[in-house]
Amino acid sequence: MNKLYITTPLYYVNDKPHAGTAYSTVIADIFNRFHQFFSKETLFLTGVDEHGQKCQQAAEGKNMDVQDHCDEMAQVFIKTWENLSIKYDVFYRTTSSEHKQCVQKALQKIFDRGFIYESTYEGWYSVSEEIFYKEKDLVDGKSPQGKLVTKITEKNYFFKMSQFKNQLIQHLQDHPDFIYPSTRQNEVLSFVKNLEDLCISRPKSRLKWGIPLPFDSDYVVYVWVDALLNYIFGAGLWKESDSDFESWWKESVHFIGKDILITHAVYWPCLLMALDLPLPKKIVSHGWLLNQDLEKMSKSQGDILDPLELAQQIGHDSLRYFFSSVRFGHDAPISQKMIIQEHNQSLANNLGNLVQRVLTLIESSLAGTLPPPPSSLHPLQEKSMETCEKVSKYIHEFSIHMAVFEITELLNQTNKFLEETAPWNFISEKDKTAPILYTALDVLRVAVSLLQPIIPNASQEVLRRLGLPPQSFEQTKKVNQLKSGIVVKKESPIFPRVRL
Ligand code: ME8
Ligand code: MG
Repeated sequence: MNKLYITTPLYYVNDKPHAGTAYSTVIADIFNRFHQFFSKETLFLTGVDEHGQKCQQAAEGKNMDVQDHCDEMAQVFIKTWENLSIKYDVFYRTTSSEHKQCVQKALQKIFDRGFIYESTYEGWYSVSEEIFYKEKDLVDGKSPQGKLVTKITEKNYFFKMSQFKNQLIQHLQDHPDFIYPSTRQNEVLSFVKNLEDLCISRPKSRLKWGIPLPFDSDYVVYVWVDALLNYIFGAGLWKESDSDFESWWKESVHFIGKDILITHAVYWPCLLMALDLPLPKKIVSHGWLLNQDLEKMSKSQGDILDPLELAQQIGHDSLRYFFSSVRFGHDAPISQKMIIQEHNQSLANNLGNLVQRVLTLIESSLAGTLPPPPSSLHPLQEKSMETCEKVSKYIHEFSIHMAVFEITELLNQTNKFLEETAPWNFISEKDKTAPILYTALDVLRVAVSLLQPIIPNASQEVLRRLGLPPQSFEQTKKVNQLKSGIVVKKESPIFPRVRL
């Protein structure tokens, strides 16, 4: 129970990360950091999905050796996540030799258990999604997501996915919280009700870039099967000592975008059942970041925001903050303007100003020395304790935007408290300013500590200015935790305003 295994999708290396992929990764990182804050032991995996036609074509387009292209792109992802303060434990690559061996072992096992057969595949294929479609699935000659499809007729291997239909329906019914948000459960159920077998190979004559099937080397493994398996190997399955795998896997949560819900909530559970392994605990699907025309932002639409450029403009903590304020689970239009506005409003004006204001007042009224706590608890401090409980509750419910909302409320009220008490009007009367300033700073301490998982760098900096090390949740949810007697200093603003 005290463990948590969090994963992001493995992103295709056909291109560098964009705002959408950054969104998934940042959100998963924020959840991971929150649970560490709540004293959980966590394992956080992200990585790249390097096989398949899409990546092969990208390399060919650049006239590059495919492995060289993958190596280069993997570094681009690693660098980007470093710049966005993503603190993962595992960066998973599907071209690693360990992964290839494990995938072959898994396929052999599924084959040996009688769940794979040979037949002819006739249908359509979307390279962009790496998904097989039947004629009846197409909408205006394209995939349901509007992607180009090409017709293929090939001898292939199939996975008897339909055999797991009832078992999967049972699982979905027995575990109504398997899919988050539960409103997407129906989409999955209706897919499962018409479950067919899954084509799980591509002939090498058509696609070279993949892992050879262990029982027929003329074929490579379908890229989705190859990639999904990462989640179990990344948690240690079939490693020399796989004793930890079970305890991580029991507490596994996959973060994904809603575009890949079917592969995760249908293909993946069926593959696990075929391997006689337990299903993940939860699949959390978030909404899409939309462009100005309210379409899903994607590379093919050419309207993608570059997370590194944004981070450079407003600071990476501010980009993380913006992502956390998006209503989780829902689609949301975003633009550079909205991101800058959020930075200016919530971070520069609200949080940033409060820090400057309180520290300036403590400097001018108390020569920077933190006073002792007031003799009785202020209602605002009581509210800060309630905020801790609410934040914990919301994070456990995946309502990250609500957690952010509560923290913002606390900051708003602290600013209001200062305006109402107006200590600047009696700055030389230390007896009167001290309890006010202590209260404001103690509440600010709580708010900033709660923001550590979202804005790790800026929050550490504020805590440092308050004379405090990084804070655990246990420390955060106690009142009067400032170090009376130490001297604090106002320094330069933490969140300078950014011009639109
Ligand atoms: O699907 N808004 O990789 P991918 C929000 N390799 N999130 C978005 C987004 C948007 N506009 N665009 C992309 C793959 N994403 C497979 C996954 S997992 C075993 C294999 C995010 O590079 C979102 O998480 O196409 C989505 O699910 C993921 O990027 C797809 O990344
Ligand atoms: Mg995609």
